[in-house]
Amino acid sequence: MKTTAILLAAGQGTRMKSTLPKVLHPVAGRPLIWHAMQAIGQSTTEKPVVVVGHGADQVTGYLGDSARTVLQEPQLGTGHAVVQAESLLKGNTDLVVVCYADMPLLRGETLRKLVEMQKNNTGPVSLLTVIADDPRGFGRIIRRPDGTVDAIVEEYVATAEQLQVKELNVGGYCFDAAWLWDALHRIPQNPKKGEYYLTDAIELAAKAGLPVQALVMEDAEETIGINTRVHLSEVEAAMRRRINQEYMLNGVTLIDPASTYIEIGVTIGRDTIIMPNTHLHGNTEIGEGNVLGPNTIIRDSRIGDYCKVLASVMEGAVLEDYVDMGPFARLRKGAHLGNHVHMGNFGEVKDSYLADGVKMGHFSYIGNAQIGSRTNIGAGTITCNYDGEKKHDTEIGEDVFIGSDTMLVAPLKIGAGARTGAGAVVTKNVAEDTLVVGMPARAIRKVEGKREK
Ligand code: UD1
Ligand code: CA
Repeated sequence: MKTTAILLAAGQGTRMKSTLPKVLHPVAGRPLIWHAMQAIGQSTTEKPVVVVGHGADQVTGYLGDSARTVLQEPQLGTGHAVVQAESLLKGNTDLVVVCYADMPLLRGETLRKLVEMQKNNTGPVSLLTVIADDPRGFGRIIRRPDGTVDAIVEEYVATAEQLQVKELNVGGYCFDAAWLWDALHRIPQNPKKGEYYLTDAIELAAKAGLPVQALVMEDAEETIGINTRVHLSEVEAAMRRRINQEYMLNGVTLIDPASTYIEIGVTIGRDTIIMPNTHLHGNTEIGEGNVLGPNTIIRDSRIGDYCKVLASVMEGAVLEDYVDMGPFARLRKGAHLGNHVHMGNFGEVKDSYLADGVKMGHFSYIGNAQIGSRTNIGAGTITCNYDGEKKHDTEIGEDVFIGSDTMLVAPLKIGAGARTGAGAVVTKNVAEDTLVVGMPARAIRKVEGKREK
């Protein structure tokens, strides 16, 4: 059966007090509407139709070709919003799922159950409800003695008796398409607000003696919709619990899930331990047996296995296995640390490769550099990679010993086995196995002793 979703996203979201359209505010690193699109993707068969209005250009731009969009202008209510999709969908789908773009906790599985319910319903519509003590301004579900739904009564018109009803309209529906289009045109304009309410379509069905079924949701959390930034933070916390629980059940230790922030799209291998106040963002891939945090931020990075990252920041960087990093290390875009690299406190690496076993213990800046295996970078070493106009490369061979506080003025090549004295300012290439000292540094003798090959 062809099942198509219509996602309502035209509302202004005034109470967000934002220049960003409400549905583009992120939860766990992805816009609200992304979450709704996920749930739809798991419960429908066709490309969804998103009804846009406020911030239409931005929302449409974000969606790209993941959805078809229709413009609702002006916004005359939820019923009016659904009508906008008629010309696209009439005759092209058997079932229509309607839901809101601002309910990011709604699960695809729940919508799937709703679709199943409607497939077995002889009537034209099934809808999601929840039993809750806090009515949150939701419409009340009025049931008939046979259990089917008689009407949805909006809070502001409800009688004292109706206000006592604990079953609420969540805002998720599955309609028989053939019935829906005709019914939408019969919805009366609300005399008070001048809008067309989708909920009135439910009443039309019931009045015609057609059964309306309701699926009572078990997890009330799923029904949280976002109107304010207070709701946004509630949903963020709920989503965090959900995400973190999944990692823990998959073999990742989270010492304090409440202060562990993992965005959607991150992968983490088994037996990795995540300490408090660790933030994993974007497209980040983490292997097994690592210890990350506390107080660590990692974005768009890849970490192999058995690494330690303590109180550090990484962005667009790669760690191979057994890297030991921090505290207070910073990797920027293009930093790549090989196996067993040790990077201690107050170091910064950008656009550079540190081969296996490189040691960089303290206070260094390495930019646009290639550093050979086992090389030791002394405290305070700086690659002077920028001449005010251009970035220049530094190439350091294997088994080099860079003395403390060396300035490496790029472009520069330092041969394997070379050494620099403390405080050297190196402006010219250094041959293999050569010791340079001073300012500017010049060769004084051959380095004695053997080095590992
Ligand atoms: C609606 C329901 C109410 C339900 C509640 C659950 C109606 C009349 N009432 O009320 O029974 O309990 O949701 O949250 O449907 N939208 C448009 N175009 C419009 C109007 C709204 O796209 O012209 C979108 C909004 O962006 C929003 C959603 O539809 O995402 C819901 O609209 P909203 O005005 O918030 O409906 P409620 O008054 O909350
Ligand atoms: Ca609402």
